[in-house]
Amino acid sequence: MNHSKALVIFGATGDLAQKMLFPSLYFLEADGLLPEGISILGTARGEVDFAGKVQASVKERAGADFSEQAWARFAKRLDYVAGDAQQDDLYKALAAKLKGAQEIVFYLAVSPDFFGAIALHLKAAGLAHKGARIAVEKPLGHDLPSCLKIEQALETAFTEDRIFRVDHYLGKETVQNLLALRFANTLFEPLWNKDSIEHVQITVAETVGAGGRWSYYDHYGALRDIVQNHMLQLLCLIAMEVPANLEPDSVRNEKVKVLRSLRPIGAGEVESQTVRGQYTKGYTDGAAVPGYTQEKDGGESDTETFAAIAAHIDNWRWAGVPFYLRTGKRLASRSTQIVVQFRPVPHSIFSRRGLVANRLTIRLQPEEEISLSLMNKTPSLDQGGMQLKPLSLNLNLIDAYKKTRRRIAYERILLDALAGNQTLFVRRDETETAWAWVDAIADGWKDREMKPLPYAAGSSGPPAQYALTERNGDAWVE
Ligand code: BG6
Repeated sequence: MNHSKALVIFGATGDLAQKMLFPSLYFLEADGLLPEGISILGTARGEVDFAGKVQASVKERAGADFSEQAWARFAKRLDYVAGDAQQDDLYKALAAKLKGAQEIVFYLAVSPDFFGAIALHLKAAGLAHKGARIAVEKPLGHDLPSCLKIEQALETAFTEDRIFRVDHYLGKETVQNLLALRFANTLFEPLWNKDSIEHVQITVAETVGAGGRWSYYDHYGALRDIVQNHMLQLLCLIAMEVPANLEPDSVRNEKVKVLRSLRPIGAGEVESQTVRGQYTKGYTDGAAVPGYTQEKDGGESDTETFAAIAAHIDNWRWAGVPFYLRTGKRLASRSTQIVVQFRPVPHSIFSRRGLVANRLTIRLQPEEEISLSLMNKTPSLDQGGMQLKPLSLNLNLIDAYKKTRRRIAYERILLDALAGNQTLFVRRDETETAWAWVDAIADGWKDREMKPLPYAAGSSGPPAQYALTERNGDAWVE
């Protein structure tokens, strides 16, 4: 291989690489966005027809967008080395392939259990040189101690400016759009605080179950798999102060301040501030599906597949404003959204009936959409007083950008990792602060022996979640 730039993907035959990374790289190729002359080297244990496998995955994802010309260009960049990531031999083979490559990104699409070992092997093989970066997928460990262990290994081989901690939510268009919405408009920022906002809710609802990832998932659960990373990142972007600019550290400084201001939830609070759930058998999209423990032979488990948390950010801007977080698998529908609930008018000159406080809804999935509910007069000549109704002011991103293909979040992530731009990657202190907050909840659950409450697959999750918001006079928005 005689390229000066290379991307090396560990776990290249795995699910993440095949379903997300290679299709994303192919799309970047098709759009002419891959760095000139870059080679893409996959590595995994087994001997496979690598190009054939990647092509099948790309075709499946691209569908009608598949182009033979783009594929031909892409295929020329591909190479593969089979080997065991824990053995020196693999790194010798990689070093031989990477001879002359001055800029390399090592992307670890493998279990976090291997992160530390791979980083150390790369260093030993002389592959962690100044031109090399490492990208690691979440979750970074299972808790703060295991995260620190991985971090130490990463740090031995790579400096912080060369470590790219991936949270693919940050690559989603609407997530980046949060920055634009907040900081490229004057409309919201003066209202973006405890005086005008009653509460914020963030929901990540999925219809899929743990399925083929059961063994991984069972070790993590919803709190560690989704809340620790994706949801806390969303919360940071909603709650942070305006950064000085868009430089990586300016943005990340503001995010970590939010994480540090999160009020700890421990054994004394878990029962009133959190809800755990686990799905039992039910129906998803009209089909009968097994319960979580039935997905694994003889499986018994106390792992939560649903978590809801009433969080608070103890700072001037957000004092007293609940941030409700809720995520679960096998729920009624797939929906990821952030709801910013504004306060009601302080005094109504209208009849109270039908007066609904403004609400900003930022929908990430299934469709990307931003809408603001506003009170409006219903056209009528009714003499019994003015009739009002909330109507939506919609930023329909699908209609606004009809011709634009909806990009995979990993396209942005890969492009930025290749360009060395860390703005959309998580800094070490963010990960560690997030773990410390999450660990206290997990420890609290253990301490209080809080078992997950059952909910039927295809339902909205355990009913106990409603008490979490109702206690403060709030309600989940479905
Ligand atoms: C991953 C989690 O990080 O995010 C999965 O490990 C989850 O459990 C997935 O299904 C959700 O991502 P998205 O982009 O489909 O919302």
